[in-house]
Amino acid sequence: MTRTDAEARALFARLTGQEPTGLWSAPGRVNLIGEHTDYNDGFVFPFAIDFRTVVAVGARDDGRIRVVSTFDEVPVEVPVEVALDDLDALFPARRDEIVEWARYPLGVAWALRAAARDAGVDASASLTGVDLAFSSDVPVGAGLSSSAAIEGATAAALNDIWGLGLDRVTLAQAGRRAENEAVGAPTGIMDQMAALLGESDAGIFLDCRSLEADVVELGFAAAGLELLVIDTRVTHAHSTGGYGERRAACERGAAIMGVPALRDLSVDDLPRAQELMDDVTFRRVRHVVTEDQRVLDAVRTLRANGPRAIGPLLDASHASMRDDFEISVPELDLAVDTARSAGAVGARMTGGGFGGSAIALVDRDLVPDVTAAVEAAFAEAGFAKPHVFTVHPSAGARRDA
Ligand code: GLA
Repeated sequence: MTRTDAEARALFARLTGQEPTGLWSAPGRVNLIGEHTDYNDGFVFPFAIDFRTVVAVGARDDGRIRVVSTFDEVPVEVPVEVALDDLDALFPARRDEIVEWARYPLGVAWALRAAARDAGVDASASLTGVDLAFSSDVPVGAGLSSSAAIEGATAAALNDIWGLGLDRVTLAQAGRRAENEAVGAPTGIMDQMAALLGESDAGIFLDCRSLEADVVELGFAAAGLELLVIDTRVTHAHSTGGYGERRAACERGAAIMGVPALRDLSVDDLPRAQELMDDVTFRRVRHVVTEDQRVLDAVRTLRANGPRAIGPLLDASHASMRDDFEISVPELDLAVDTARSAGAVGARMTGGGFGGSAIALVDRDLVPDVTAAVEAAFAEAGFAKPHVFTVHPSAGARRDA
């Protein structure tokens, strides 16, 4: 049993005085390449990481849902509690009444009930009340999708407890709906798909329009490589500011070009786009269009020549986010540049940007050198000490006990 398993169990016992019916978990994710392409109907290539959120679950017979967590801001003795029948009134209109972290699991419960209705599942009898106790080792605010880990664990658990029989893509869609409408972050579906579909030693090559997913072997270990995460400790929130503005610029660009989404443009369309739009909108569009192409190139290159060959694509992706999409910060640029100078095969920021983490693909033997170089560079620049650690492609949401 992992430490997080034990914490979730203990928390559940403190809340209910009983043993849970079971334990479910879901991972955070790293995106290897394909940033801000998901809500443009494009391509992404994330993988699930070996950091997980665990939820201990038990049914209740009073139609109420209670959630507690070790990452809660209020004491465990005060669980967030709602009648299942009140969820429809609560989300999205009155979501502000719920403490922020609890909007994720309660939002998933709300979205799953709706998904079950849409799928024609007659679950009226089985939608019992439920207690959910969460613990997690996914770093929060690091751009590793701690939120999708909560959503994935909740969705997998409720799907089983309520006997809904919904497929993984539907569970991911419910997670995204919770994020968009119950939390209010206008994100795409990449994180939830990675948390639900991840497999060990594999990336998820996802077409965000069709939601077709290919599981692609990554082969990092066989190639003697490690994937290093450099958490800059600059925190971000996608429910505010920059993320939504970038999304709006993409929609503006697609409208000017007369296409449903930027996914429908290719690199050949860029000269015409440049003629038709202002410089900022054009650069946002150029990032997304070239990034989609880089995802396709990365998957093809990986399959043909192995993981070491994708380094230049990771580097190019970072340059595009820094210069065209303008979502990097000095700490991320320094992490990427230093990792590369210290011998990384390739490096880029990962996730939504404006803070969070960079990733670097590094020869196993060089991990200590790259780590030391990044720490030294941060100290010299007067930045807070970064948190540098390796992650390994891992399984998606599952029942653990
Ligand atoms: C965040 C969002 C994702 C995606 C990335 C950027 O992680 O949750 O949907 O848009 O940013 O690629």
